[in-house]
Amino acid sequence: MSVQVIRTKDDLRAALRPRRRAGETIGLVPTMGYLHDGHLALIRAARERCDVVVMSLFVNPTQFREGEDLESYPRDEERDLALAEEAGADIVYAPSVEDVYPNGFATWVEVGGGLTDVLCGDPGRRGPDHFRGVTTVVAKLFNTVEPDASFFGQKDAQQAIVIRRMARDLDFRTEIVTVPTVREPDGLAMSSRNTYLSPADRERAPALYRALRTAQEAVEGGASLDDALADARRVLTEAGIEPEYLEARYADDLTPAAAFDGRPVLVAVAARVGAARLIDNVVLGPPSEAETPAE
Ligand code: PAF
Repeated sequence: MSVQVIRTKDDLRAALRPRRRAGETIGLVPTMGYLHDGHLALIRAARERCDVVVMSLFVNPTQFREGEDLESYPRDEERDLALAEEAGADIVYAPSVEDVYPNGFATWVEVGGGLTDVLCGDPGRRGPDHFRGVTTVVAKLFNTVEPDASFFGQKDAQQAIVIRRMARDLDFRTEIVTVPTVREPDGLAMSSRNTYLSPADRERAPALYRALRTAQEAVEGGASLDDALADARRVLTEAGIEPEYLEARYADDLTPAAAFDGRPVLVAVAARVGAARLIDNVVLGPPSEAETPAE
């Protein structure tokens, strides 16, 4: 295996220092592992743009709420290393929890501005602490890797928007690249959590994307956002799915969108389908910073 596996931030810094000094550009692909084609698309996008590709592999405990699937989150490091190498990663940074969160860890990175307490961040859902965990670990990765570009999936649209804001507000020098969602042939967005779906639930799950496409087509046909969401909701109901949320929000600041005002609109859905909590989204209107295509 030629991919280099590094376990500590000190070793990672030491490995990257000469590469940076030699003028090489560094791309970062943060992951929690159990790689699927969506992750591989991020690695390939990084490979195309950067001289050195670092993939982090760390199931970040601070972004899981109590009672969520931290313990059961799927893990298979050997498989991940083989897939990461095949997709073009040079280094896999797979630290221990202690390396990331040393004893007495007490510093958090929190994004406000109404970006982290809506949609998945609503306190009745995953809550803002979920995003606090994400931004804290990603800020730490930015500090350790000092990447020229960092790659995130459009499937986690809210996460990408929150990280983009954090990077801007805290002057991280990395470019945030959002890579389009990779889907199964029936439209289901790829996710490590799809492994939780029973065969029957796997059949129902593509209704999320069907609902989003229904909303998109309704809007393209001249329907209001409200009517488009109602159409989408019907598709979910027919599949026996009660969404946690199905909402239209402006993609730049996540305020509720009642009508098009020239800004792109994020239509986002989350739903529990059997044992899996699934999320998906489409962006309607002009191309936005919410879905900056990978070049
Ligand atoms: O999207 C994910 O897998 C995680 O939220 C991330 C960005 C790797 C942070 O733990």
